[in-house]
Amino acid sequence: MKFACFDLAHFLSHNWQKQPLLIRNPWENWHNPLEPDELAGLACEDDVESRLVIGDDSGRAMESGPFQEARFGQLGTGPWTLLVQAVDHHVPDVAGLVSPFRFVPNWRIDDVMVSYATNGGGVGSHYDNYDVFLVQGLGQRRWRVGPKCDAQTPLLPHNDLRLIADFQATDEWVLNPGDILYVPPCFAHEGVAVGDDCMTYSIGFRAPSQSELIEGWAEHVAGQIAEEERYTDADLTLQAQPGEITPVAIERLHGLVMDALSDQAAFARWFGQNNSLPKYERDWRPDKPVSQKALRACVAQGSRLLRNPASRFSFIRLGPEENLLFVDGESFSCEGSDSVLAERFCANEIVPLDPDADLSTDTVALIGALINQGSLAFEDDD
Ligand code: SIN
Ligand code: CO
Repeated sequence: MKFACFDLAHFLSHNWQKQPLLIRNPWENWHNPLEPDELAGLACEDDVESRLVIGDDSGRAMESGPFQEARFGQLGTGPWTLLVQAVDHHVPDVAGLVSPFRFVPNWRIDDVMVSYATNGGGVGSHYDNYDVFLVQGLGQRRWRVGPKCDAQTPLLPHNDLRLIADFQATDEWVLNPGDILYVPPCFAHEGVAVGDDCMTYSIGFRAPSQSELIEGWAEHVAGQIAEEERYTDADLTLQAQPGEITPVAIERLHGLVMDALSDQAAFARWFGQNNSLPKYERDWRPDKPVSQKALRACVAQGSRLLRNPASRFSFIRLGPEENLLFVDGESFSCEGSDSVLAERFCANEIVPLDPDADLSTDTVALIGALINQGSLAFEDDD
């Protein structure tokens, strides 16, 4: 799927993280990538996260999946909505929907949630902590957007849903298939299906919170420090008040913390690895590790490499021909032609290789490691 008309530079400078934007069908040739029945089928699978929200503003109940197929037949004619997480990990055409949004870096992209709603169905007025593009796939939905919220915004008492108590819309639009609404983090929004068979694709983003960054990095650093590394005061002198923790002691204690946490290169490596951990697993690991010989044979046959849709690929550049590739919680140092290959893996879901290329041992080792950890597979393999 491709955009025919969408001014990305204007969008980034005026809207991204700043203001909601309605984009009327910018696609070259919009078609809904998933049937409602297929979505319901996914919601019945054990390894797929899904929920049902039944009712409307007069009262809502939530149920978590996986569901029995019969459950959908029992829902009746009232408003309800089914929401399924990370559908892009299971349906290649839904994964294809993310490609045009890759003007945002890989590490900021989360996954695609898909919703199906009957007339009047919706999750209610709420805000999310992340940017989202809401792509109308099928049918119509009325979206209302309100002001930016924060932790002080009053919420309705509800066990499962974080609904805004007094939602005041500032804009309202009815979206048709192909239309997109961009909502920046924390802006109040509410979508209500207009008619049955309303499907919405949420291209969601991620942004680490300051507290989770501190927690994760500090835990990692702490795990590498020996117990014997501790406060010392061989230069202790007599102090007037034994109760005082002196400024000298405080400075030394604070230094112990800050010195260990301030290594930016080590932080970059930890962050890249940590951020590339998959949220939901899709096990593509081969039954037995791929041999160098088998790998070379696949390349010589012209077989292309496919990226596991649940895998997260990103890199940091260390030099003109050197980078550190992060995939699914692991890091790989890549130099020369391998650094070019690593960047191609990060930029493309399908990577063709030159069948006539004389691959180096390092290149074969890199591709082999990525195949064996289930992040890549040759397209002809089952
Ligand atoms: C929906 O698709 O109904 C909800 C999406 C959202 O508001 O984030
Ligand atoms: Co939302």
